[in-house]
Amino acid sequence: MNISSRPFGVTADGERVTLYRLENSTGSIIELLDYGCTIRSLLVANREGRLTDVVLGYDTLREYEKNDGYLGAVVGRCANRIGGARFSLGGKEYHLAKNDGDNHLHGGLVGFDKRVWSAKINENGVVFSRTSSDGEEGYPSQLNIQVVYTFTDDNCLTIDYRATGDGDTIVNLTNHAYFALSGRGNVLLDELCVYANSFLENDAHCLPTGTILSAKGTPFDFSLPKLIGRDIGTANEQLDNAHGYDTNYLVGQSGKMKPVATLYSDRTGILMKVSTTQTGLQVYTANFLKDRAGKNGSHFGCRDAVCLETQLYPDAMAHPDWSSPVLKAGETYAHTTVYAFSLACK
Ligand code: GAL
Repeated sequence: MNISSRPFGVTADGERVTLYRLENSTGSIIELLDYGCTIRSLLVANREGRLTDVVLGYDTLREYEKNDGYLGAVVGRCANRIGGARFSLGGKEYHLAKNDGDNHLHGGLVGFDKRVWSAKINENGVVFSRTSSDGEEGYPSQLNIQVVYTFTDDNCLTIDYRATGDGDTIVNLTNHAYFALSGRGNVLLDELCVYANSFLENDAHCLPTGTILSAKGTPFDFSLPKLIGRDIGTANEQLDNAHGYDTNYLVGQSGKMKPVATLYSDRTGILMKVSTTQTGLQVYTANFLKDRAGKNGSHFGCRDAVCLETQLYPDAMAHPDWSSPVLKAGETYAHTTVYAFSLACK
């Protein structure tokens, strides 16, 4: 692995940001930023052998700082929405920052995606860490987080998340990369398969109602590879509310590594397989992504990419039967997700 680094600018608060570039023996490249623990670029060869950047990102730090959308970042302390921006733990009610109407989204106003992390290069990747203080965005207890990105010669990107707190708290981490395997937008033409039979019903604010619905035979059925655009325009309350897919699928047992999804673009031949130890997969078709200039003269907007966010079911503190985001003092939060890239033989 060839790993190098270069300055990527200075934040509005005067913090230096560094870009880490990892190139494996096949010439595939990943670029990571210590700002937001962000995947900025991911270049793999298409079927003609040309390197194709399969994630959305920006040219400058300023754009990462001022724009919403969480491009490529690690989101936390709790990914996804927390209804009413509050939860109870140990008999005490905690109030979190409200940044999505009345709700809390992806860690709040200044979540993990807007922080500069510490970074250390290792043999095949970069170890990012940061300490989230007691009370940050309303969360109780200090939390030490470590996120390790490992890139290997077989074009696998592994993300290992670990966290420990000095008191009880809640944690649910994920990466918010926008995948565009065609390298040029319109994700409706790409094929998705999700290894799940059911998903969480959402209310109008994209919060789970608590009802688990069967995907079989519905527009939400991706149990066999299907073009993302095939059913996205079907008249359906949840698709209408979210302007597309913004859906949490039940992908299996917590703590067990299993394949959960594949994404394929026939325009490039690039296939991505996603495996995770998590129980939920949020499929988000970039419905709210604003039109913007991206890296290297690119341009992107609504539905030009898809996020496949491995995480616990959202708002789980309001649903005691679901896998809990509670992390007790002395325990370790651990979650691993692998994104494996190859060319499909079709
Ligand atoms: C997704 C979430 C969407 C939207 C997006 C950020 O993870 O499911 O509802 O908030 O992040 O724009």
